[in-house]
Amino acid sequence: MPQRHFRRNVQNLPPNPGADVLRYGWEKENVISLAQGEGCAPTPDFIIQAANKAMCEGKTHYGPVLGQPLLREEISTYYKRIFNVDLPPNRAFVTGSGTTAMHLALTGILETDDEVVAITPIWKNLLGATELAQAKTIQVPLDYDQTKGWSLDMDRLLGAVTEKTKAILVVTPSNPTGWCMSAKEMQIVLDYARARDIWIVSDEVYNRSAYGVSHAPSFLEVAAPDDLLMTVNSFSKSWAMTGWRLGWLTGPEFAENFIRDIALYDNMGAPTFTQFGAIEALKNGEEFIAEQMTLWEGNIDLLMDWFAQKPNTYISRPQSTFYGFFKVDGEEDSLGFAMKLIDEAGLSLAPGCAFGKNCDNWMRLCFAVSQEKLTEALNRLEKVIG
Ligand SMILES: Cc1ncc(COP(=O)(O)O)c(C=O)c1O
Repeated sequence: MPQRHFRRNVQNLPPNPGADVLRYGWEKENVISLAQGEGCAPTPDFIIQAANKAMCEGKTHYGPVLGQPLLREEISTYYKRIFNVDLPPNRAFVTGSGTTAMHLALTGILETDDEVVAITPIWKNLLGATELAQAKTIQVPLDYDQTKGWSLDMDRLLGAVTEKTKAILVVTPSNPTGWCMSAKEMQIVLDYARARDIWIVSDEVYNRSAYGVSHAPSFLEVAAPDDLLMTVNSFSKSWAMTGWRLGWLTGPEFAENFIRDIALYDNMGAPTFTQFGAIEALKNGEEFIAEQMTLWEGNIDLLMDWFAQKPNTYISRPQSTFYGFFKVDGEEDSLGFAMKLIDEAGLSLAPGCAFGKNCDNWMRLCFAVSQEKLTEALNRLEKVIG
């Protein structure tokens, strides 16, 4: 294979074990997959109808690169309604997915050899732009305690910032741990980033998936409009729109032109008619979100009861998201364990090694499925771990 014809840093992109396991599971018959990060519910009909109507009305042409003005306004209204945050539409940039939003943000700010300090475990796909820019990720792991769950050592995080640091990357709520950064912690990180004149890039894709509250804290609630803050969001999770590939990025006003320029050279903006579905999602999606959260919370109970019966396992109750992140005594190689589960039990889960260093004895299970499917998956897991 003439690899040399590709850029060296593309040739050297690190392997993606999560994607490898998914592919391996898809090739086999009768495999239950809880490896991918999405719920099993289809997109609600009212959202589909709105996109369908837009398509039938001829909204099938190129649109403004940073999104339909109506959607940008709706995002602004949404932040006021749910977070009580004033975010004018010109600070909301519609993107072709949360992943793209992160890509645009990091591509916009990183130079070769810059450092990004990232709290881990982290969904590694988010770091693609860092790899492509030949920048470096400095991983700062969360601590785990069986009783208290996941927590951040703030001194460790801030201590990882160096002269080369361009951004602190936070995923809150966190995929895969379900940990959420508190508003107080956000204020500390923000004060520090302000003093160092560096960016905070905050992935808040799961901020409507926090249990017992309407939303997890957002950096937008503590930041000033001109802070060096970009937040990443997506229609994928809370509105069951993974296949639509639609998300958004927020930034300070001066970021608008830069992000527009990069998006122009990327894909010239998100599809046009789908954005009309997204407007409906933001306007009328609260009932659907609440229903999903009730379902997922029931599944957490099921999951926690099941693991409580297994003394050789470790898991803490997720505060948010739809993932159980667990480990099993004696299983230190998550990729090998993931393959073994597929081969011996017909169960596909995401290996911890897909989420950064120090996670290789962990596994991630997505519980946003029916109780029947979750129960069957746990029965299959039992076959292997006893
Ligand atoms: C933390 C986080 N950010 C972003 C994404 C991707 O969202 P999208 O489907 O909009 O690309 C995911 C998907 O799993 C995620 O877990």
